[in-house]
Formats: sequence, C-alpha cells, structure tokens
Amino acid sequence: MQKTTVLIIDDQVGNNFKERLTKHGEFTVVGNTDSGDIGFAMAERYEPQVIILNIDMPHNKGISLAEALSLELPMSSLILATIAESKKVLHTALQVGAKDVLSLPVDDDRLFRSVHKAAEQGRMRQRVFSVKRKKSTPQFKTVTVFSTKGGVGKTTLALNLAIAIRRLTGKRVALVDLDLMSGNLGLMAGIAWKRSIKDMVDDINNLDKEMVDSYCTEHPSGVKILSAPVQPDFSGFIQADHIQKILSLLSEVFNYVIVDGPTYLHDTVIPALEESSEIVAVTTLDLPAIQNMKQCLDLLTRLSMRSKVRVVLNRVGYMGGLKVKDVEDELGMDVQCVIPDQEKIAMDAANMGKPIFLSARSSNIGKRIEELANKLIVPDDSNHEMAEQPITD
Ligand SMILES: Nc1ncnc2c1ncn2[C@@H]1O[C@H](COP(=O)(O)OP(=O)(O)OP(=O)(O)O)[C@@H](O)[C@H]1O
Ligand SMILES: [Mg+2]
Repeated sequence: MQKTTVLIIDDQVGNNFKERLTKHGEFTVVGNTDSGDIGFAMAERYEPQVIILNIDMPHNKGISLAEALSLELPMSSLILATIAESKKVLHTALQVGAKDVLSLPVDDDRLFRSVHKAAEQGRMRQRVFSVKRKKSTPQFKTVTVFSTKGGVGKTTLALNLAIAIRRLTGKRVALVDLDLMSGNLGLMAGIAWKRSIKDMVDDINNLDKEMVDSYCTEHPSGVKILSAPVQPDFSGFIQADHIQKILSLLSEVFNYVIVDGPTYLHDTVIPALEESSEIVAVTTLDLPAIQNMKQCLDLLTRLSMRSKVRVVLNRVGYMGGLKVKDVEDELGMDVQCVIPDQEKIAMDAANMGKPIFLSARSSNIGKRIEELANKLIVPDDSNHEMAEQPITD
C-alpha cells in the first residue's frame, strides 16, 4: 500500500511529529518546518495528503495559514493541533473544514489514528467527487542572470528582478550570489550577512530543505539572499554537484530562485543554467559586448539552452548609430527588454545599498525592470502585488 504523505507545520519544540510518524510504517513526512511561509510553499509543491498545522502561532498566523491552506489546497486533509482547545480554534476548524483537532500533547495512538483517518477521508473525497483543483498546479522557477562579460549589470538586474518579483507576487523568492570569487550582491543589497554558500558547502552532506532558510539573510523586501563566500579562495573547493544540490533544495522551498551569475562559464555555473527555466542574458550596446553576447549565445546553443534565453540590453543611452533591430539581427534573437543608462540612479542605489526597485521604482530603469519581472512571473502569480513596505536603513 502507498504511504500517506504528511506535511508538518509546527513551531513548537517537543511534539516530535516527524520522528513519531516516520517510525510508523504507514506515513511519509514530505516536509517538517516551523515556518508558516515555508510550510505554505511546501504544501503547494508536494500537495500532501495530510497537513498537520500547529495553529498556536503568534499574531493569529496559524489561523490565517489554516484559511489559506484550505482555500489553496482543498485536496489536502488538514489537522489542527493546539495546546488550548478554545472556542476560536474550534470555530476555525469548522470554517476551514479541518478533519480533526489534536489537543497537545498528543500520544502516538491518537496521532496515528487521526492522520490515518484524515488520509482515508481525503481518498474518499477524491474518489467520490473527483474534485478538480481550483487552480492549475503552481509552478516553481529558477532564473539565472548571465553574461560572459563583466560589468554589464548582471548583479543590478538579478537583485532588482528578485525584489520586483517578490513585490509583484508576494511569493517566496531566493536570490543566490553565484559569483563565487568576487560576489558583491550582499553589498549592493545593503544587507549584513553572517552565513554564506561556504557554510552550506561545509554542511553539504547534512543539508535538507528544512534548513536552507537559515543560510540566507532576509532583505527588507522579504527576498532571502544567499551570499557568496567572503574569502574568494574558498571558491576553489566548491564543486558543481554542491551547487546542484543547493539550488535544487532552494527550489523546493522557494517559488522563485534568482541566480546572479559570474562572468566566467565555470563548472559551478552549469547546474544553475540547467536548473533555470529562463536565462536572462545581459549585454550593453557596444560592439565588443554584443560580440561577446554572440559567443555566449553560441555556447548556450551548444548546451541546448538557447530556447530559455531572454536577451536584455542594459545601459542603453547614446547608441552610436546602432539600433535595437541591428542587435537582434546580429544575435539572431529578439531583444526582450531595453533598460536605459541612468548612472546617477544606479550608482546611488549601489552605493547606498538601496536597490532601484525600492528607491526609484518609477524611474525608467525601475519601469523596465518591472516589465521584465512581469514577463518572468508565472501567470497564476500575476496581480498579487504586496502592500508598500517602508524601506529600512
Ligand atoms: N541601467 C544602468 N544605468 C546606469 N548604470 C548602471 C545600469 N545598470 C548597472 N549600472 C552600473 O554598472 C555597474 C556594473 O553593474 P553590475 O555590478 O550590476 O554589473 P555586473 O555585470 O554584475 O558586474 P560584474 O561582472 O563585475 O559582476 C555598477 O556600477 C552599476 O551601478
Ligand atoms: Mg556582478
């Protein structure tokens, strides 16, 4: 018999749901997290048969999460767990159609029976109603911003695209600095980070999806940034399969993973390009850069990745007689986005660590980045703009 898939969202220590359910042969725990956000992303990704949610989260977060889960994942059976079985909890349980309410602490027998029954009810519901999902299966996306030429605006673009996507969708967004030798994403984002890819590589054999958040630093926009190693010499120890594992774990718990690529096409970049459903290839509008982009596209063609590429022209000002059409003819590809050269805005943003999308969204650069972000967002995620958040220093 197939095992019942269970997701656990529990911010309380000591319930040990995962260990207890795993010991029992009937259940497979597909995720175990203390964070509501991660739990929701995991629920969307795994569509577990049963979700155990500890509803006693601060600021009524558990209640809103229960509501969101019942709305977005009607085929998962929800079990609520609580220390104090109050009227409010019971009311929520009724409202969200929870299959059971567990009073904590709960013993093994009661726990197993509850999960077993909830799974059975779910199976029956599926058979009887053959309910269609309310919306299409959510998609998860990795996007790499790439160019084999330095200084064309990869980091500027990766950072602002990540923030724009976060703001426009409200989804979980991770941003990875894959410029392992000279990454400056953290500086440009204005964050102070303690952990980096180095720590993740150090722990590579013990990594699991529940831990990946703890290696990232949260930017005020809500984007979680995984910084490059501070010591460039460490990059020599990082191998392609490390990056492959890190990106695949991140893509399990983040809806969008944006990668800021380096200028070189090293082994460690290939997993990012492979994992990506879209590659944003950035160039400026001078002949050497365009020539370089042509070679870069040839390379991506040889890797069978050309169909994923979106060409972006950055820092477009004086065109010296060149037209966008000339570039398209030369590259044999459409240009998807033309970003103007606005040195003061870009420089202020970089120097003050206040990304353009937050400090100058209505500038021409900001608008073009927003257009590009909208092209990258999966259709189900459109039109969910988050409320404006204050920019903190
Ligand atoms: N549209 C723009 N207008 C004006 N200046 C820009 C624009 N985009 C980026 N810049 C500036 O260009 C410089 C290089 O940008 P950035 O660091 O993003 O490029 P990069 O491709 O990541 O460089 P590297 O190859 O060193 O990683 C920065 O000073 C940045 O502020
Ligand atoms: Mg860079």
